[in-house]
Amino acid sequence: MIETIGVVGSGTMGIGIAQIAAQNGHQVILHDHSEEQLKKSKFNLEKVLIRLVEKQKITDSERKDILSRILFTPKISELWPCGLVIEAIIENIDIKHQIFKALEDIVSEHCILASNTSSLSIASIGASLKNSNRILGVHFFNPAPLMPLVEIIPSIQTSNKTTDSAKKIIESWGKTVVLCKDTPGFIVNRVARPFYGEALRIYEEGIADFATIDWALKDLGGFRMGPFTLMDYIGNDVNFAVTESVFKAFFYDPRFKPSFTQKRYAEAGYLGRKSGRGYYDYNKINNNSEPIKDKVLGTLILNRVLCLLINEAVDAVFMSVATAKDVDLAMTKGVNYPKGLLKWGDEIGLEVVLNQLQKLFDFYGEDRYRPNPLLRKMVHENKTFFI
Ligand SMILES: NC(=O)c1ccc[n+]([C@@H]2O[C@H](COP(=O)([O-])OP(=O)(O)OC[C@H]3O[C@@H](n4cnc5c(N)ncnc54)[C@H](O)[C@@H]3O)[C@@H](O)[C@H]2O)c1
Repeated sequence: MIETIGVVGSGTMGIGIAQIAAQNGHQVILHDHSEEQLKKSKFNLEKVLIRLVEKQKITDSERKDILSRILFTPKISELWPCGLVIEAIIENIDIKHQIFKALEDIVSEHCILASNTSSLSIASIGASLKNSNRILGVHFFNPAPLMPLVEIIPSIQTSNKTTDSAKKIIESWGKTVVLCKDTPGFIVNRVARPFYGEALRIYEEGIADFATIDWALKDLGGFRMGPFTLMDYIGNDVNFAVTESVFKAFFYDPRFKPSFTQKRYAEAGYLGRKSGRGYYDYNKINNNSEPIKDKVLGTLILNRVLCLLINEAVDAVFMSVATAKDVDLAMTKGVNYPKGLLKWGDEIGLEVVLNQLQKLFDFYGEDRYRPNPLLRKMVHENKTFFI
């Protein structure tokens, strides 16, 4: 039983992960090289916990206990008693290497070392270690205390024991855990790309405007937010950076090609909500156009985005990135999709999905629309994923 959890980096993700571990009864050692940041994150956590008391989610004595279990420290050497350390520092491979090298000299040989990286390979992070079979990825979603999903990513160096122990601990925190191969974007950030990319492409082709595409995905598809509202929420700079990094990491596979529209929006500083303007104007709401609620057009838009999403989900299974069950769990728990994409494909009919993709592929002649071989095989064999 691992009692003490270490967290390195007390930014957005680190403080959330520290809160989860402390709420689950662990002693937590939270290290950041910036004393200023430690102060800020402690202050923010205190506010979050007071709110939880007000909402009667925890008692006041639990609030005090949670806080008393976290040691905020600028000294990395204090992490020595930890059985698991989760790194959540800046997304830079050289700095991550320095941290893991330093950690290896501080913690015991049994300590599991995990990274919360979104875009770096776990294999590359583990390369800095003498004993790399204790490295793995544990990818939390933002905000970590609220989002139920954690992707667990063993690399080619990781031992089964490391994976099993990490999985057990994180499940004991009430999280939904999915196992995922060490591939770019893991499950969620890979499979979700067409939600943004195909919406942008539909706009670029002049088929519909932002509001209409959002309406189709939200009102007809049941997604919580339309893609343009969501990109404005995430930030066009952040969303573009993820798309670009997945595209590069896939050796420029055209399925993941970023969009010039989004690049220009990011370059112009139209970042979304945080800058007051993105695809929508948040200062002058009246400037935004109303959707054209044409059901035929809406259904065409929804089906096109959905078929590409389903094709991507099938590819994740085809390439053994994750099981069909975990792919569907990841998309419903990690990004709140109304249904698992593979189950959705079963319901629509895999043959219908395949035909639609084939039509797009024939029309455009672009690899972006190529139907996945597993989808073809399943249709040929008259199989479904779940039903
Ligand atoms: N923000 C998200 O939505 C999100 C979601 C999932 C995963 N991630 C990943 O989590 C990691 C952290 O992201 P974040 O958004 O919390 O970043 P952040 O910028 O909010 O926080 C990073 C923290 O690390 C500290 N830090 C930097 N270098 C350090 C060092 N050498 N030693 C100790 N502390 C150091 C900084 O002071 C800062 O407090 C990244 O790898 C990111 O890819 C982020």
